Amino acid sequence: MKLKVVSWERKRFRSPSLERPVANFFTMRTVTWEDGKVKMIDQTALPLKLSHVFFTKPEEVANAIRTMVVRGAPAIGVAAAMGLALSAHRSKAAKLPELLHDMESSAGLLRSTRPTAVNLFWGIDRVMNKVREAKTVREAKELVEAEVKAMEEEDVQTNRRLGKIGAELIDDGDTVLTQCNAGALATVGYGTALGVIRAAVEQGKLVKVLVPETRPALQGARLTAFELAQDGIDCTLISDTAVGHMISIGRVDKVVVGADRITNDGYVFNKIGTYQEAVLASRHGVPFFPAAPHSTFDLSRGHDSVTIEERSADEVVKISGKRIAPKGVPVANPAFDMTPPELVTGIISDRGLLQPPLAESIQRLIS
Ligand code: MRU
Repeated sequence: MKLKVVSWERKRFRSPSLERPVANFFTMRTVTWEDGKVKMIDQTALPLKLSHVFFTKPEEVANAIRTMVVRGAPAIGVAAAMGLALSAHRSKAAKLPELLHDMESSAGLLRSTRPTAVNLFWGIDRVMNKVREAKTVREAKELVEAEVKAMEEEDVQTNRRLGKIGAELIDDGDTVLTQCNAGALATVGYGTALGVIRAAVEQGKLVKVLVPETRPALQGARLTAFELAQDGIDCTLISDTAVGHMISIGRVDKVVVGADRITNDGYVFNKIGTYQEAVLASRHGVPFFPAAPHSTFDLSRGHDSVTIEERSADEVVKISGKRIAPKGVPVANPAFDMTPPELVTGIISDRGLLQPPLAESIQRLIS
């Protein structure tokens, strides 16, 4: 059943006084390779402090991924690749098999950090495949460094391509609901879902973004609201529990979210809370678009065998370190959920818009 949208509600929500933002986007890179070090924005300190951390050891990068100093599927893919490059950089191996052994051991550690976003494994595999092309230790180290620098550049270009494709789906004056942070901070730069918004704004469209806070880790409130505010893009923060109400009263024109893994049968794994947005969007006739680069597609498996990360209970029972629930209460904290293809209007990728039937479009455009 489709809800009849009452036009005065829409008009009232879109303030006519809103000014079109200048296309001056958040250009700082989330993760970058700098003189043999990995430099990252410390996302745990945002939005109160914008600061960088530098890492020289793969173990430090693994820890940064696990503790969400860096997070977001494409960003952790590039970060893990750079963690491996640190392993190569530091290795004292005299022969290639020893170097490979050192790197395999770091790859194992990096693979164990977070299980859901396939970009992590994509990034590690890409570096390991590259190093196997080398004939000498020196060549291997050079190839690895060049590869991670290329991955860093490609990430931004890919997101810009994806953004342009997705922006065609956004109309002037749209209000777009998102989830979590699929922005510049979740990638090297520009973002996926927020890349679509940025590209629409670059086309001169007036776009308003509805940002759910995204408990428990609050990536919406802390990161998406921060990024959009930096860019002067109109955004309104809502509690997660307000999502259904806002959709039901016609205040959402489109839903655009990121993705951590899209399986070959068209299931979309993304931040917890995405599935309920998809169900509500479908209930009210609102288009639902995940946006993801090709590195987020997992052609090797269907949805049944994906591990959904379960994070610490502390994220749920505490807010900013302060306990908000009784001691000892049982907690479940799944970090991601799964949206089936029948709830997806289309997937925005750098290879084009994937339309239903998704399993077929994935085979055609991504493989
Ligand atoms: O737990 P996080 O913050 O790493 O989760 C991030 C998300 O779920 C994003 O939506 C997803 O990685 C896409 S980012 C372009």
